[in-house]
Amino acid sequence: MIQGPLYAVVPAAGVGERMGAGFPKQYLSLAGKTLAEHTLNRLLSFAPIEKVIVAVSDDDPWWPTLSMASHPRVTTVTGGESRARSVRNGVAQALMDGGEDAWVLVHDMARPLVRLSDIQKLLDACDDQGAILALPVVDTIKQAADGHIDKTLDRDTIWRALTPQLFRAAALYEALGEDLTGITDEASAMERQGLHPVLVAGHSDNIKITVPEDLPLARFYLARQFEAEQLEVGRFEVGKVEESGGL
Ligand code: C5P
Repeated sequence: MIQGPLYAVVPAAGVGERMGAGFPKQYLSLAGKTLAEHTLNRLLSFAPIEKVIVAVSDDDPWWPTLSMASHPRVTTVTGGESRARSVRNGVAQALMDGGEDAWVLVHDMARPLVRLSDIQKLLDACDDQGAILALPVVDTIKQAADGHIDKTLDRDTIWRALTPQLFRAAALYEALGEDLTGITDEASAMERQGLHPVLVAGHSDNIKITVPEDLPLARFYLARQFEAEQLEVGRFEVGKVEESGGL
């Protein structure tokens, strides 16, 4: 469990080239709302988060048009030329606002389906070295060399990193440092310092919208989450206590 103020840091300064939409992917529509609104709604409805710090491009004309950009618990900072730079700017803001005791929950804007129950699980499992949501791989994994298989890796030891990733803000800021080359997630910056964040098993519907075929999949997962939530409400109505399948 963590102690100290908790801030969400949301990198959202990417152009989303692989999506090919002609504008950043977080402004694509999913069930009548932008991906950004889905993501921020979820983070803002998680009470322990004091503020959501969003890193956006200075020349992003869409962000100021969202009502959430002026939400009292949302702060905007300038994004960077890489995801890691955007995160670093957000972590710097969390440190300014919350001081040395602050914790940061870094979450991609492009992951609109994160479950609040998984965020809670992350908080519960976190230790001093931080924690990340991740998924154990199910496929056999090959390491390649020149387009041929070099070897098969032991899949029992391999996980796919998701977000959110949770760290003490000061430790993450120091770990990111000035050299951000090769840093594709926050945990890799901590690993570079010799630290070993906890792996917390998340859900596979926490997808990062990256290519056009991810949108229909997101629609499907969103509908399933909604149905599970309705079922959950139904269970409460009849007074039964069952394992939660909802958000
Ligand atoms: O491009 P990718 O899907 O890895 O981006 C993950 C997240 O990082 C997205 O929410 C994107 O907006 C953000 N990002 C950023 N600054 C960049 C590049 C990506 O904040 N320069």
